Amino acid sequence: MTVFGEAAERVRSGADHRVEARALIAEMTLAEKLGCLDGDVDFWPGHIDMVSGGYYAHAWPAAAVERLGVPGIWFADGPRGCVINPSTAFPVSMARGATFDPELEERIGEAIGAELAIHGATFTAAVCLNLLRHPAWGRAQETYGEDPHHVGEMAAALARGLQNHVMACMKHFALNSMENARFSVDVTADERALHEVYLPHFKRVADEGVASTMSAYNSVNGEWCGDSPTLLTDVLRSEWSWDGFVITDFLFGLRDPIGSVGAGCDIEMPFRQQRELVLAEAVRDGLLAEETVDAAVENIVATLLRFGPVIDEKPDPARLEGAAHRALAREASAASMVLLSNDGLLPLSAESKRAAGSKLDSVAVLGHLADTVNLGDGGSSDVHPTEVVTPLAGLRNALPQVAITHHDSDVSIARDADAVIVVVGYTSADEGEFIGDALHEVAHLLPPRPERSASAPEPEPAREETNDEPAATPEIDPHGEPESTFAPGGDRRSLRLSEADEALIAQACATSDRVVVAVMGGSAVVMPWIDEPAAVLQIWYPGAEGGTALADVLLGDAEPGGRLPFAQPVDERDLVEFDPDASAATYGLLHGQWHLDQMGTAAARPFGFGLGYTTFDLSFDELRTDGGELTAIVTASNAGARDGSTVVFAFATVHGSAFERPHRRLVGFSRIGISAGESLETSISLDLTQLHVRNNGEWLDERGDYEISIGLSADPAGLQSHTVNRAGLRSVAPSQRRHQRTPRGSRP
Ligand code: BGC
Repeated sequence: MTVFGEAAERVRSGADHRVEARALIAEMTLAEKLGCLDGDVDFWPGHIDMVSGGYYAHAWPAAAVERLGVPGIWFADGPRGCVINPSTAFPVSMARGATFDPELEERIGEAIGAELAIHGATFTAAVCLNLLRHPAWGRAQETYGEDPHHVGEMAAALARGLQNHVMACMKHFALNSMENARFSVDVTADERALHEVYLPHFKRVADEGVASTMSAYNSVNGEWCGDSPTLLTDVLRSEWSWDGFVITDFLFGLRDPIGSVGAGCDIEMPFRQQRELVLAEAVRDGLLAEETVDAAVENIVATLLRFGPVIDEKPDPARLEGAAHRALAREASAASMVLLSNDGLLPLSAESKRAAGSKLDSVAVLGHLADTVNLGDGGSSDVHPTEVVTPLAGLRNALPQVAITHHDSDVSIARDADAVIVVVGYTSADEGEFIGDALHEVAHLLPPRPERSASAPEPEPAREETNDEPAATPEIDPHGEPESTFAPGGDRRSLRLSEADEALIAQACATSDRVVVAVMGGSAVVMPWIDEPAAVLQIWYPGAEGGTALADVLLGDAEPGGRLPFAQPVDERDLVEFDPDASAATYGLLHGQWHLDQMGTAAARPFGFGLGYTTFDLSFDELRTDGGELTAIVTASNAGARDGSTVVFAFATVHGSAFERPHRRLVGFSRIGISAGESLETSISLDLTQLHVRNNGEWLDERGDYEISIGLSADPAGLQSHTVNRAGLRSVAPSQRRHQRTPRGSRP
């Protein structure tokens, strides 16, 4: 058995993983230790392999020490599924956010984790949880929504599920909610905005025991995130006592290869890049203390030891894209679809045909996206399943007896159809991860490209043995000029649909009064046309079984379970400012629904909005106070004739607060299923930490009148409330240790 294997055994039997890690590090040479602080593949061959298809072909190693058996990390990404081909594509995270169902999200995490492990990965950065400050963010689809409590609960559930099989990493730490400018923007946030709005969900996932944190590309208050002692040491370690290792975002994730080690950044990912060029010399010249190197290596090795049993566990390879995972993708997709309007046409059935009550004979399907594989972002979260059921295929499979016609734009097919389904929205050309010409912008951070006469690239490290023996990292010619496989992506310039899509909707509605519009996309869409169609469904990027799920929902075999995880504005000018090209941005206390509430502006559809196929009545029976804890006792009744489910939201308002706050802040939610005509009492424990105020390094638990409101969305008209008095003002956490700040380095 290797030295690492023996240490892992002892940890399994109860030994302290940090003590064992320190003993193991004492046996490592300096070169081995420095080798842990970046990826295990040389930059140029690695980069060329990665962008020309290798990203989706195999896991990427870092921090392996062969001599001692330290396995290192084998990275493959998510969060839509495992990015190594082929894998099950689930609906994107924003869709899953709309389910408001952490239990479902945990099951999805477990399934993605199993597929990652089957493909040979031991580590994934699938837990993306940056707050949706503005829906134009190109990677909105990779997170869960605009609210810190909700995002934290969903991301914690994903991490829990994943960590049955792999180590999970939360990202991008922090304030990375813009795409085009991510490599250069400095985000300013004052102490309250940072700690009360943009970090609580990260703390939630840190408390869940996530193995790793990925720093963001941008800088925060002048410190590049990958080099930031404030974020990586003061917040993560000193304040949150989080136990794990930090990695950079890929390729340009740090700017100070030496200083970043002491700042708390453990691994430069994913290649031997900036640190490779300078660290050995820095230790030799006394610029970097060996103890600082040891501390970073300890974070990595201790986490590997802690996760030993998880990494050793090998899921059954038959699970890869198996029936159970496809069924889960289908369930999640239906549970995520948000019914934004419905004049009674849905669910489609013999009864819903408002003409003579005959059965559904013909369906017209319009829009090229109906017949297009459209799974979302074409960058780091892209997933390639073997089979994708498009909306058109889903309808054809579900309705073999019905005449289904499809055309991209000819609305004449809608004229006599019993139902008209118009599929519109975005693709990876409109939104998603953006690389642009970043490589040129940061050319000064890259190792020199080998001359053509250079000797052949070093062989890559041998792969760990895995279930299905994945391909080893191939040898790549470092001189190659790869054609990137990544889609353009980027932030959206508008929250409206394209003119062509809006025209198609208008023409379809002018031709038929039985139009259902299904909108694909990663976040909020401004819909000035929303009252024209008979029904509107937001179907997101719905995953490999999205077409099946859409048919399930349209035909009433499943409910549209989703509720909006953000406020949908009437006009994008109602929201906070968003400039994709900004070199500096200030994130304040209020955005999304909170901002609309503050401005007294109604949303087109508020946070939490979503119709079902039945209706629910709520009764807020009691607000229980037990010590410091608050619990809302609510009875929900299914007032319709169908079984169904809904989401009950609990918001809090602190009356007479000395501080600016959101009018109402989410402190709890619960998804409940109830049979037709039945009632169910549910208790929702309220997360009062969401209301703590950050002031000069301390947390204040402000006392006074707390109004707790319960409703089926954030619409004030539908809320019922109880108020409880909490007296006094007290500090709930000690002030934090201060570290010397390093200034932000020079810009590229
Ligand atoms: C993205 C990360 C991702 C990484 C590896 C980066 O460009 O920002 O979210 O995990 O690539 O694919």
